[in-house]
Amino acid sequence: NKDILNAAQFRLEDIETIMNTAGHYEQLLIDKKVIKDMEGKVMAALFFEPSTRTRLSFETAMLRLGGAVITVAESETNQISSTAKGETIQDAISVIDGYADVIVIRNPVTGTADRAAQAALHPVINGGDGSGQHPTQGLLDIYTIMKAKGRVEGLTIALVGDLKYGRTVHSLVDFFALYGCDLILASPEALKMPPEIVRNLRAGGINVKEIDSLKEAVADADVLYVTRVQKERFPIVAEYDQVKDLFIVDQDLLREAKEGMIILHPLPRVNEIALEVDSYPGALYFQQAHNGLFVRMAILALVTGSVL
Ligand code: CP
Repeated sequence: NKDILNAAQFRLEDIETIMNTAGHYEQLLIDKKVIKDMEGKVMAALFFEPSTRTRLSFETAMLRLGGAVITVAESETNQISSTAKGETIQDAISVIDGYADVIVIRNPVTGTADRAAQAALHPVINGGDGSGQHPTQGLLDIYTIMKAKGRVEGLTIALVGDLKYGRTVHSLVDFFALYGCDLILASPEALKMPPEIVRNLRAGGINVKEIDSLKEAVADADVLYVTRVQKERFPIVAEYDQVKDLFIVDQDLLREAKEGMIILHPLPRVNEIALEVDSYPGALYFQQAHNGLFVRMAILALVTGSVL
């Protein structure tokens, strides 16, 4: 498959290839090597929603691979591309496909990356589509867990916070299912994981526990994966206000944690991890964001056939 659209498209061997390639690029960067695997190639970064990590790590990845970058970074209040004049994503992609060798797209509408992939001959990478999927975030999370714990198989993973709207956790559960992880889904009632996702996991033999207690989740987890309540997805702001501060990870809570538990978060955080937790030995969320560079280098090089 030329495109990276969702987590369900992956087999374990695909993930292993990405992890090994990411490790290869991480080592080359540690050794301060100049890499030219994508010299002469162009990546289009089309971001129709705010982003710090995904866009900048993809852009850095392309530059570190010796390639070039063209970017559209806009939001509702800062429209710079001709989509503001009513151009469809399909038309825009048909045009940009003639400029670029690979396209990374983020859009608030679920399914946009799939539509873009249908219009493009070159690979399309989903950089986040509404509350749908965020597969490259999930892959860099797997890379981070492998580095920290040496394995993903057999771990108990607690996904906590906004499991309804969080696109990263929607991708991650499919990745964790491939590794046969036990899953704890901890959220306020209003932010539960969509039932069809839970049904599919259980039908695939995955042990899934749904709870509304953060404390209980922490007690059993090898990996505590914290998420931000996705304010931008709520139809009514008052509903956001009711749930925004219900789950907060602080030092008191971590007294309940198993030894060696690691804490991940796709970032940005708002209040859900207290600043005092940043000095906790297992708080890896900033390393996690840095790992995005290596994983996205691997993804770009692999989908464009730029690495052996
Ligand atoms: N984790 C993540 O997707 O961050 P950005 O929204 O800053 O890209």
